[in-house]
Amino acid sequence: MSDQDCIDPFRAERQAHGILIADFVGETIPMILRHADVRQAAKDWTIFSSDAPMRVPIPSEEGVRSVRQLPIEADPPLHTQFRDLLKPIFLRPLAPDYQARIDALIARLIEAATAQPEIEIVRGFALPLQSRALTYLLGMPEEAAEEWIGWGTHVFHDGEDSTGKGATLDRYIRGALDAADVVHGTDFFAILRRATVDGRALTIDEMIGIANLTFAGGRDTVIHSVSRIIAYFAAHREELAALAADHKRIAFATEEFVRFISPLTHIGRVCAHRTQLGSHDVQADERISLCWASANHDERVFEDPGVVRLDRSPNPHLGFGSGVHNCLGATQARAILRSLIQQLATQTSAITVLGEERQYEEQTDYRRWVGFESLLVHMER
Ligand code: HEM
Repeated sequence: MSDQDCIDPFRAERQAHGILIADFVGETIPMILRHADVRQAAKDWTIFSSDAPMRVPIPSEEGVRSVRQLPIEADPPLHTQFRDLLKPIFLRPLAPDYQARIDALIARLIEAATAQPEIEIVRGFALPLQSRALTYLLGMPEEAAEEWIGWGTHVFHDGEDSTGKGATLDRYIRGALDAADVVHGTDFFAILRRATVDGRALTIDEMIGIANLTFAGGRDTVIHSVSRIIAYFAAHREELAALAADHKRIAFATEEFVRFISPLTHIGRVCAHRTQLGSHDVQADERISLCWASANHDERVFEDPGVVRLDRSPNPHLGFGSGVHNCLGATQARAILRSLIQQLATQTSAITVLGEERQYEEQTDYRRWVGFESLLVHMER
């Protein structure tokens, strides 16, 4: 299989049928592949529902958690209530001093990286960046990130024992909720303890479900994006120069990386009732997949989809999803990735890849390049 096939393994099926009937651990799930169809299905939550605890991710997560993640595993109006509750937290990156904190964090990481002969980017740069930046979003001390860094690149799947990892996260969240200062606290856990929906306090499972998603979502996605952007500019140094001082170009480049990489391949929905997908009959309660990665390489929408064009505009990618569940963490992800690109341009003069091990999403019916298991580079100031 060529590199290009692993970047867009859905091309043939997208062009021929628009649907790939794929097997995920014994469950047959039709994947919607075309941009227009994915967008339409993402809108139709009355048909393609998210009200499905543990079953929105594919494969499903019954084995690694026992609470419904919120707001992602709910439909309106419940979804809207939880999302509205969380918006003030997730929109913190828009505050003027927030970007400066992210910039300072990345400047420190680049300084440390350039002071060494070599650095392993995934665990030595991207993981600490993601976790420390998350402390800013959650209003917690930066030291809190040290424990989170110990969980690895994925809260469930980095290592052998996914169930044990799920239990570790659950214990951590329960402990943090218990320890929160409900009266005076300003951090995420204190806010959850004080929060209300419909005039009532949140249940403990709702608080855990929100925190679980907050730690799980936006972890490997950010880490893969950071690592792949660094690898890209190691190979295409000349493209960085044009970006250095231009915020608009950096914003375009960030969207293009999210489109091209599509860090989250797809997500599930459960059919509320029997539905026809192309020639495929989907029964009530069966799952379908919204394949963001395929939609983002749809040649009907993107010219030369297999090419990174840093000035691509318009760029209606679905990397952050579409419809009511579009990514709540997108402002955080953008703040990180934009700052990274800018500082790679201004704070480094060369990046050389010394070694890499790619990470693929391996399924019965496709193999997709998502990121790196490890990426060893030499970074020069
Ligand atoms: C490049 C990085 C990221 C990518 C590609 C990404 C992708 C996505 C996608 C595709 C969805 C839609 C899910 C659906 O329709 O069911 C989503 C939802 C979500 N993401 Fe992200 N995400 C990223 C970063 C983050 C970060 C950093 C956080 C948190 C700190 C986060 C938190 C969430 C939450 C809470 C939702 C659910 C929103 C809702 O249900 O209303 N994401 N993300």
